[in-house]
Amino acid sequence: MVVRMQRVTKRYGDVVALDNVDLTIERGEIVGLLGPNGAGKTTTISGVYGLTRFDAGEVTLFGHPAKRIDPGIKRRMGLVPQDIAVFDDLTAGENVSYFGRLYGLSGRALTEGVSFALEFTGLNERRDQRPKSFSGGMKRRLNIACALAHRPELVILDEPTVGIDPQSRNHILESVRALNRDGTTVIYTSHYMEEVEAVCSRVIVMDHGRVIASGTQSDLKALVSDEETIDIELERMTPRVVEAVRSVAGVKECLPEGTHLRITVERDGVRLGRVIEKATGLGVEVLSAQIERPTLESVFLSLTGRTLRD
Ligand SMILES: Nc1ncnc2c1ncn2[C@@H]1O[C@H](COP(=O)(O)OP(=O)(O)O)[C@@H](O)[C@H]1O
Ligand SMILES: [Mg+2]
Repeated sequence: MVVRMQRVTKRYGDVVALDNVDLTIERGEIVGLLGPNGAGKTTTISGVYGLTRFDAGEVTLFGHPAKRIDPGIKRRMGLVPQDIAVFDDLTAGENVSYFGRLYGLSGRALTEGVSFALEFTGLNERRDQRPKSFSGGMKRRLNIACALAHRPELVILDEPTVGIDPQSRNHILESVRALNRDGTTVIYTSHYMEEVEAVCSRVIVMDHGRVIASGTQSDLKALVSDEETIDIELERMTPRVVEAVRSVAGVKECLPEGTHLRITVERDGVRLGRVIEKATGLGVEVLSAQIERPTLESVFLSLTGRTLRD
C-alpha cells in the first residue's frame, strides 16, 4: 500500500473541501481522481504530499503515518502541481536541476536524473532555453520533468493537461503509461473523463469533497448498467434476420429500425462476430456495426445527476 486515507476531513471556513474521505492507492496502480472543479481533488493530493493539514482523519504513506513524515519518505514522491511552477529566468535544465536538488539529488545522480527527466518529457533539445519562449504544452512538460529527476516511486499529477495542444496532451498521456510500465505508482487527477479512461487502471470519483464511487472502469460502468447496445446496419431488413439474431445467447432484445437493428445484450456477454454471422448466414450483408458502452461520463451523470463539466 502506497497511500491510505481514512476518514479525512478538511474545512476552509464554511466550505467542507473533504468530507470523510477514505481511499487507498496500491503499488503499481495508475489511479484516476476524477471529479468536477471544486470536488476536492487538489486538496486530497496536497494532503498526501504534506502541503495541507487535515482537520480529522489519518493518512499513511508507504506504511508510515504522514504526521511524522521525514524527508526520506517525501523523496519517494514527485508532485506535479496544477498551477505550473517553474522559474522563467532559469533554463529548462536549470529548472529540473533545481527541483532535483530539492528532492535530495547531487553529483552524478543529479546530472543523470536531469538528463533522464528532460529526455523523458521530450525537452532535451530545449535544455538550454528558458520557459518564457515555451508553448503551454512545453511548460506543462517541464513542470512534469521537475518532479521526475529523482525517480520517485509515486508520481502525483494534478490536472497535467489543462490548456495545452493535443500533441502535448498525447505525449503526457503516453509518458504516464511509460512511467507506470517502469513500476511507478501514479495518481492522476482530471476533470476530463476521456483522459482518465485512457490511462487509469482504477478510478476514484469525487464530488463535493466526497468519494462517490471507486473501482476499475468496468466496475464503475457496471454500476450504471449491466447491458450494452449493439447497432448494426444491414443492406436490407428481413424478419428472418431479426429472429436469427434474437436467438443468439445473451441477446435480450432486438428491434428493427429501418435497415438498422438495435440489439440489447448482456455486458461483455455477446461477441459481435456471432451477431454478424447470423445475418450474413442468411445472405444479408452487414454494412456497419458498433457497440455502445456506458462511459465514465454516464457513470458520473447517473450518480450525481450532473455532467462532469457543469
Ligand atoms: N485555500 C483555500 N481556501 C479556501 N477554500 C479552498 C482552498 N482550497 C480549496 N478550497 C475549496 O475547497 C473545495 C475543493 O477544492 P479543490 O480541492 O481545489 O477542488 P478540485 O481540485 O477538485 O477542483 C472548493 O470548494 C474550493 O473552493
Ligand atoms: Mg484542482
